[in-house]
Amino acid sequence: MRKLYIFDTTLRDGEQSLGITLNVHEKLEIARQLVKLGVDIMEVGFPASSPGDFESVQTIAKEIKGITICGLTRCVQKDIDVCAESLKYSESPRIHTGIAVSPLHMAKKLRLQPEQVIEAAVAAVKHAKKYVHDVEFYAEDAFRSDRPFLAKILESVIAAGATTVNIPDTVGYATPWEYGELISFAKNNVKNIDTVRISVHCHNDLGMATANSLAGIAAGAEQIEGTINGIGERAGNTSLEEVIMAIYTRKQQYNIDVNINTKEIAATSRLVSAITGVPVPSHKAIVGANAFMHASGIHQDGVLKEKQTYEIIEPETIGVPRNEIVLSARSGRAALKHRLGELGYTVEKEQIDPLYAEFLKLADKKKEIYDEDLHVLMGFNVGGG
Ligand code: KIV
Ligand code: ZN
Repeated sequence: MRKLYIFDTTLRDGEQSLGITLNVHEKLEIARQLVKLGVDIMEVGFPASSPGDFESVQTIAKEIKGITICGLTRCVQKDIDVCAESLKYSESPRIHTGIAVSPLHMAKKLRLQPEQVIEAAVAAVKHAKKYVHDVEFYAEDAFRSDRPFLAKILESVIAAGATTVNIPDTVGYATPWEYGELISFAKNNVKNIDTVRISVHCHNDLGMATANSLAGIAAGAEQIEGTINGIGERAGNTSLEEVIMAIYTRKQQYNIDVNINTKEIAATSRLVSAITGVPVPSHKAIVGANAFMHASGIHQDGVLKEKQTYEIIEPETIGVPRNEIVLSARSGRAALKHRLGELGYTVEKEQIDPLYAEFLKLADKKKEIYDEDLHVLMGFNVGGG
């Protein structure tokens, strides 16, 4: 079975979200949880960016064993030296170096000629190789690059010793079919690409980061980069939990698997949200509070008869103890009877219609009917007739 490598960048790209700054203790706590989750690689900072980030990367590299620890750099020797220093206690260090490759970024941001960009990239990879075997190269804004130039720079960094090449959609502009074509282009046009691992790194500006990552995987990428809860710059990064569960639910069909302890997904999501202060929207796929709640009568009836009617994942698989049937004015008799049964009430056939009528009167006044409301309802009916 083909293995998909999970590269978590919650502590680097995720931390670049507006308003998030994590201290070393907070980063370490999340890193420990990522180990329980079983990610293959964790990118934990940009060590040259600040002394605090250096300390965080170094502390994590010292404590976290059995997993690849990665630091980000620009194609700048000093960055790479600092990154290597911060990773020196890691059992399995990776330096992730790179540079922008789109005409827009090269001309306006870097103010470099394309040939100079290739020179800087090759020099950076060679420099990083002096410290570590495992060097990943990122071609920033690859989606908006000229394809022949992209092929040339990727070939050059592979020749210089890169072991993974990251082909990002930095600004989240791609559609799934276009991003899939980009990865196929790299596979078919870059010399020696089959000697390295291709990585996909997508942003969510058009809400397509997960779909684009999956398209990249279908086109042959072996590593996916993302963050827990999809946190990250602007509209965020690919949500790792979404890609993991998309692959997990069809691993037999596509003969591809992730080495993830899915039962830790909910706990990881909660921890990242609590520590970063970024709330998870209730309707968020996989980890939103409503992801395993059933609200409408038709759905509740279906789920009570057979869970799979409206549940594609068992909640226990991601560490949520059970699904929930929420009682509201949208609920039907089946859900009401079921919950009353769970609370220990036996409802005879002839009781259900009048009981349901009382229930609806109450439900029209409240958003949700809680167990206490049901006890009152039953008391009223038992006592008052
Ligand atoms: O989005 C991006 O291009 C990045 C790179 C630095 C890997 O985050
Ligand atoms: Zn990014």
